[in-house]
Amino acid sequence: MTPPFSPLVSRIAHEGADPWALHWRSRADVAAGKDVIPLSVGDPDLNTPQPVIDKAIERLRANDTHYTESAGRDSLRAAIAAAHRERTGQSVTHENVIFVNGAQAGLCVAAMLISAPGDEVITFDPMYATYPATLQLGGATLVKVPAPASLHFHPDLDALARAITPRTRAIFLATPSNPSGVILTNAEVEAIAVLAERHSLWVVSDEVYAGLAPNGRVPSIGARLPEQTLTVASLSKTHAMTGWRCGWLVGPKALIQHAEMVALCMTYGLPGFIQEAALVAVQLRVQAEAATRAFCQARRDTFYAALQGVAKIKVVLPDAGMFMLLDVRATGISAGDFAIRLYEAEGVSVLDGAAFGEQTAHFVRVCYATDEAQLLEAAQRIRRFCASL
Ligand SMILES: Cc1ncc(COP(=O)(O)O)c(C=O)c1O
Repeated sequence: MTPPFSPLVSRIAHEGADPWALHWRSRADVAAGKDVIPLSVGDPDLNTPQPVIDKAIERLRANDTHYTESAGRDSLRAAIAAAHRERTGQSVTHENVIFVNGAQAGLCVAAMLISAPGDEVITFDPMYATYPATLQLGGATLVKVPAPASLHFHPDLDALARAITPRTRAIFLATPSNPSGVILTNAEVEAIAVLAERHSLWVVSDEVYAGLAPNGRVPSIGARLPEQTLTVASLSKTHAMTGWRCGWLVGPKALIQHAEMVALCMTYGLPGFIQEAALVAVQLRVQAEAATRAFCQARRDTFYAALQGVAKIKVVLPDAGMFMLLDVRATGISAGDFAIRLYEAEGVSVLDGAAFGEQTAHFVRVCYATDEAQLLEAAQRIRRFCASL
């Protein structure tokens, strides 16, 4: 008989159907040469900048393949600190930075370090699909505050204030958001900072898409509340480097020292040749981000225009990022059924908005960071599918 598992497994279990099942099916169908268009995952259809690849190969050939410091090399941490200073105005050094394997790992480390069983952590609904499992990893209970369609997916700040209890430890937010693409305004960031200060809460600001915001900047809470903010970011989206797993956490020095202990337990350092390549990527960030930003903005506008007048769906124009929400309520079928039927009829994979929360239960999410011809073809197929309903 299998001995019992830790209570952790129920905290990280999927609720109901796996939202990614359709996505993996579409990936398998692409591999099998079928005529499908996957728009279900946020992975830009661009190549990693060549100098980054060249550096990784160079360092591999130079045998940079041994153990490294758990927090990452100081040169890389310093470059990330400089980029963060430049973007946000927050005064940080390498001691405020830990290099981790993707923003996802940063969220996970943050959740473990700032919450425990019995605590509550708050995030906005809709939220990135990994948040429920990740944020509850430390044992805390997730409390959702609506960022509803009626507020154009901006958070209900009165509801946020009401949601804070003596057990609340942290507010997790993403700006720009996945799936809505909303960038929090200065006033919203300020209101969240005031609440966090008043109740002595951590704020975890997930800024993986910040480089894709206009001018590569978002109102950022780190500069306003440096002792209580952890900023999470990565090279995944801005540099088309999702598979490299290069991310970081920026926060108070003491927290970074604790994070280093978690890294020591989990990874015992990340590959040196990847870190040296990441350093090149960070140094290239201005050009790399500008290129990805221009690509995403152009695709967003193309896709938005191509979907105008499609029967029974309403398209939400995002501020930034690589995702668009389509309101499918008027089709009379659930978003989950819409996604499956669209895939079966037309081979276009989109994600059921229910994967991101109740507020997007009538929406599907599409990633538009892909080839223009494919995007236009996908729009035509969606139009045909909607007309057939
Ligand atoms: C809001 C948000 N945070 C974090 C991540 C994870 O990014 P990474 O590839 O850096 O782990 C994603 C990926 O889609 C995301 O959308």
